[in-house]
Amino acid sequence: MAVDLLLGLQWGDEGKGKIVDVLTSKYDIIARFQGGPNAGHTLVFNGKKHVLHTIPSGIFHDETVNLVGNGVVIDPVIFKKELDKLDEQNVDYKSSLLISRKAHIILPTHRLLDAASEASKGKAKIGSTLKGIGPTYMDKTGRNGIRVGDIELDGWEKKYRALAKKHEAMIAFYNVDVQYDLEELETEFFEAIETLKSLTFIDSEDYLHKAQKSEKSILAEGAQGSLLDIDFGTYPFVTSSNTTAAGACTGLGIAPNKIGEVYGIFKAYTTRVGSGPFPTELFDEVGETMGRVGHEFGATTGRARRCGWLDLVALKYACAVNGVTQLIMMKGDVLSGFNTLKVCTSYNYKGETISHLPYNIESENVTPIYTELKGWKEDLTSMTEASQMPKELNDYIAFLEKELEIPITVVSVGPDRKQTIVRK
Ligand code: GDP
Ligand code: IMO
Ligand code: MG
Repeated sequence: MAVDLLLGLQWGDEGKGKIVDVLTSKYDIIARFQGGPNAGHTLVFNGKKHVLHTIPSGIFHDETVNLVGNGVVIDPVIFKKELDKLDEQNVDYKSSLLISRKAHIILPTHRLLDAASEASKGKAKIGSTLKGIGPTYMDKTGRNGIRVGDIELDGWEKKYRALAKKHEAMIAFYNVDVQYDLEELETEFFEAIETLKSLTFIDSEDYLHKAQKSEKSILAEGAQGSLLDIDFGTYPFVTSSNTTAAGACTGLGIAPNKIGEVYGIFKAYTTRVGSGPFPTELFDEVGETMGRVGHEFGATTGRARRCGWLDLVALKYACAVNGVTQLIMMKGDVLSGFNTLKVCTSYNYKGETISHLPYNIESENVTPIYTELKGWKEDLTSMTEASQMPKELNDYIAFLEKELEIPITVVSVGPDRKQTIVRK
């Protein structure tokens, strides 16, 4: 059976966690394929909010297997905290949560290196979540990393020690003020490693191949968004993994010809947290209203998210890179009350009108060109059927579908599981 993918199409935080949770009842297996605890995926149901960082968003469904794939980087300390929260909720994950032996481990010194690297960049900093993501993927591609499978073997601590020592020298080389007590960090780390070891480690690509053969339904859950992709994002202001569809192939061992539906998630406007170019960013009260009404604060770091109008140039690019087959529009409710909505349909690039995402999208090179649409006044948050949606919202959606040439099959009108309208 083909594997479906669910991916963020913007700069992350599109609402992936909510939709994976909504879709989970249709799947036997939910599999995260990249990223790590830089992600913060929010789920709301039964009046309670849950934030997941590394654990797949299907974990609250008893019948579903949740797999942390080989492309993910795991911080045992954060992972343990996530497990503790699940324990508090009496979620039984012991048999349903599986971890790939090939997933890489974030060491305490990876986090410190992240901090040192950012501090050394000064104003040019990426705005990293400082979870050690970049340094861990660097060790992976540099062939120095420690993987989950290693911690099952005797003597892995020796490998750990050599790597941590090297990291300490690198931190010193940055010559910035990063204070730390490695002994304390290591006590916490090795304790968390023991917790991690109590879970089930598997050869996940083999598991998934067998699952595909026995007709199990699988949904691959992306983290971050396409514009944060290491190759296709707004480099260097990106994360260190492939957040796009290809990342699901390498991050789980799924063959490209075994991919089925590609669900692309986007907000009805745009947000970004951290540094980097953002052509449609608003610095006025409209942007401020989006941030306030949409509660645009990072689920991992609590930082305020930058807000702006929907950018169709960037969205088309993301749809093309991912081969999106269905679109899911989030947070339509946040746009209620604006008289006019703007959608960026092309850029003025150095005096020329273009409709593709160019190499340089900094504000000195790119000015967005907008199409204006009429806004809606109605509160959408209690709507559950497409027939209840106001005309202006239908017009907004029809405009996007025409521009993107992909159907918008789901419209989300609030954070709760139930605030989800299926259109077709
Ligand atoms: P993710 O990283 O893609 O899973 O998204 P986040 O959880 O970081 O951010 C999405 C935020 O928007 C969370 O606070 C969600 O609870 C919330 N959210 C999701 N869908 C909607 C929606 O349709 N309307 C509103 N108002 N909030 C939503
Ligand atoms: P989810 O899965 C939004 C951003 C950071 C920073 C850049 C690099 O919740 O959508 P990193 O920690 O990877 O070194 O940070 O990427 N970033 C995210 N922004 N949502 C995320 O994940 C993000 N993960 C990383 O803010 O700009
Ligand atoms: Mg998030």
